[in-house]
Amino acid sequence: KIIVLDFGSQYNQLITRRIREFGVFSELLPNDTSAEAIKAEGNVIGVVLSGGPHSVYAEDAFTVDPAIFELGVPVLGICYGMQLTTQLFNGKVEKANKREYGRSTINITETAAGLFDGLATEEQVLMSHGDLITELPEGFEVTASNDHCPIAAFQNTARNIYGVQFHPEVRHSTHGTEMLRNFAFDICKAKGDWTMDSFIDFQIAKIREQVGDRKVLLGLSGGVDSSVVGVLLQKAIGDQLTCIFVDHGLLRKGEGDAVMEALSGKFGLNIIRVDAKERFFTKLHGVSDPEQKRKIIGNEFVYVFDDEASKLEGVDFLAQGTLYTDIIESGTKTAQTIKSHHNVGGLPEDMEFELIEPLSTLFKDEVRSLGTTLGMPDSIVWRQPFPGPGLGIRVLGEITDEKVEIVRESDAILREEIANHGLEREVWQYFTVLPGIRSVGVMGDGRTYDYTIGIRAVTSIDGMTGEFARIDWDILQKISTRIVNEVAHVNRVVYDITGKPPATIEWE
Ligand code: XMP
Repeated sequence: KIIVLDFGSQYNQLITRRIREFGVFSELLPNDTSAEAIKAEGNVIGVVLSGGPHSVYAEDAFTVDPAIFELGVPVLGICYGMQLTTQLFNGKVEKANKREYGRSTINITETAAGLFDGLATEEQVLMSHGDLITELPEGFEVTASNDHCPIAAFQNTARNIYGVQFHPEVRHSTHGTEMLRNFAFDICKAKGDWTMDSFIDFQIAKIREQVGDRKVLLGLSGGVDSSVVGVLLQKAIGDQLTCIFVDHGLLRKGEGDAVMEALSGKFGLNIIRVDAKERFFTKLHGVSDPEQKRKIIGNEFVYVFDDEASKLEGVDFLAQGTLYTDIIESGTKTAQTIKSHHNVGGLPEDMEFELIEPLSTLFKDEVRSLGTTLGMPDSIVWRQPFPGPGLGIRVLGEITDEKVEIVRESDAILREEIANHGLEREVWQYFTVLPGIRSVGVMGDGRTYDYTIGIRAVTSIDGMTGEFARIDWDILQKISTRIVNEVAHVNRVVYDITGKPPATIEWE
């Protein structure tokens, strides 16, 4: 495997990601991991020193165990990693007059070995740096340059050390992937035989070693991440795993049962299903402010989970479906905080568990592929995103039993029709909302005065931005007709045609 040491750049996980895409396992480790510990990982064929937001001559700059250069495996420094290498080998790094950020063209020298094989002499790359290498360390030669950055890449083939000032891991570097591929295969001599199966074997062994004969607790939401963790843990430690599934009464139609059936039934997970609807509805009674509703639901979740967990005895570990993106967004020792994530921040403080986070090196689509490899059904693996507060934020304003039921039934019809027309993967997220307005209609011979249902369907990559889905009129008409006919107290259906921004995906 290839180890990437983390100096805090937002792109770091992309490096491991790209390398894994070549069939070579790669893992991100903290920058202070010792050479000894890296060696102990076993099968390490190369090390990448990542980029980072700091300057190598800042007072508390991150550094690296110099012994990693003596491990006998190739080292590639990217951006900060290259500057750090320069510093450690007595070259010179200085503040640039002007920060360089953006696409830039570099000229590759004739003597460049390995890294740039098969590429043109001019390549487009993404630069993002405030410091410049102004003096090469001894034994190194320049392999790429441009006007702004005379030392844009270097190598020391005798010692198998390489450096690039730009970011090959991002798509803006047109042939960056090829450079990483060259590093993995030509320089590190990777075999490229890593698959999801080997990841599963590796994680199972790791979990067994960590847990021994002790017990693990997992909060199950029915979402893909926690479900995959559950199945993986079940394979690793069987009945030493207990799952708590809090049903807040705000799930979609049939969802609680479906989760139980799939995970408890097929995979034999030991799940405690907590029917906490009354607790949530009592707390939510009379509350109509969206933020307050979210807060109440979030807090109550923790209380219910805590109550159930405290009934269990001798549990030492808490498993979580945290992904690497969650960790990065919540801030690590090296990365800056972008936003706090509920998986990471939402634990009660007095819970003393060791954490098990087997997905923490993966991206969402890799988790889906892991789920499929574990034999999990598409209904879980490809489940559309569903917010923690559930239908509670799709009944606008105060939540009542009747209103939740209207949303639940109309949502079920929408989901059924989307599935009937094979649109599940095309439309990223689709659901109904109840704005709470009533309007006049006519049904049969009579006047009605009933609720309006809003349909929200969006296409998106990550939920950060999105467009309303261009669903065929005929399909929308069918959905509309079915909702009005089959759901009591609805006489009008509207389609939300706003993107995000300016709207958000959810209505609350
Ligand atoms: P918005 O409405 O902000 O939603 O455009 C973006 C994505 O996030 C989901 N979402 C949540 N997910 N807990 C979650 O786990 C929440 O509190 C929450 N609020 C919104 C939303 O469904 C969409 O996919």
